[in-house]
Amino acid sequence: MLNNFLFVALPYAALSVFLVGTIFKYRSLKFQYSSLSSQFLEGNRLFWGVIPFHWGILVVFLGHLTAFLVPRGILAWNSRPLRLLILEMTGLAFALCVLVGLVLLLYRRLTNERLKVVTNRMDQVIEWLLLVQVVLGCWIAVGYRWGSSWFASDLSPYLWSIFRLDPQTTAVSAMPLVVKLHIIAAFLIVLVFPFTRLVHFLVAPFHYTWRPYQRVIWHWDRRTVRRPESSWNQHPPRNN
Ligand code: HEM
Repeated sequence: MLNNFLFVALPYAALSVFLVGTIFKYRSLKFQYSSLSSQFLEGNRLFWGVIPFHWGILVVFLGHLTAFLVPRGILAWNSRPLRLLILEMTGLAFALCVLVGLVLLLYRRLTNERLKVVTNRMDQVIEWLLLVQVVLGCWIAVGYRWGSSWFASDLSPYLWSIFRLDPQTTAVSAMPLVVKLHIIAAFLIVLVFPFTRLVHFLVAPFHYTWRPYQRVIWHWDRRTVRRPESSWNQHPPRNN
């Protein structure tokens, strides 16, 4: 009964809310479809947190996606022990980047007075959830080797069975508790996804890499303009 609730009902509820919620939010609350940058309020800790976090999460996410989409490819790669070791160690290294970055980001949000004002409950919920998820992931990587192989052979078929609308929970029910918690936390993240700033992932500005960069040209002498007695300071233009 509990297994059915956690590994059948929860995934379907999470995926439905995700689908309806992200579309609804995109259509009606477009302004909130953003990472809502806080760089203007605090930049130094943001840099040390957000860079390792994002590089780590993107690699870890793509790793999970690959094992889900091409499990046979992962098993073929892992058939040589050295390649298995390279894959596992790379995964763990990037997961540790996520962990360090996320701890910094969370600490920053909880301690900086300016950030506290703009941090809402969902900002905290999602960062705590991600932290739990990453800690569980690292725990699995260290304690239940070799995850890339047993994910491809046991968990990938379970996930596919969910999408084929024919859920098969036998393998997942036999997994250790830590793995079960990792799966449950993943579906909880999917469930709350539309109500958090994570929606920015769906509108990643990839076009920035090929669009022409923006040029900012000063039409005046900066030192003159900044003098207190300059006419700029006495009569600032209306659009400033
Ligand atoms: C290509 C994909 C992504 C891009 C381009 C991107 C970009 C950004 C940007 C620009 C910020 C704002 C940083 C600032 O405050 O100035 C941000 C914040 C954030 N991103 Fe991403 N992101 C991506 C993927 C992800 C993914 C996959 C996750 C998690 C699953 C994620 C989680 C977060 C979180 C939690 C924050 C808030 C950090 C904080 O301010 O405490 N991002 N992202």
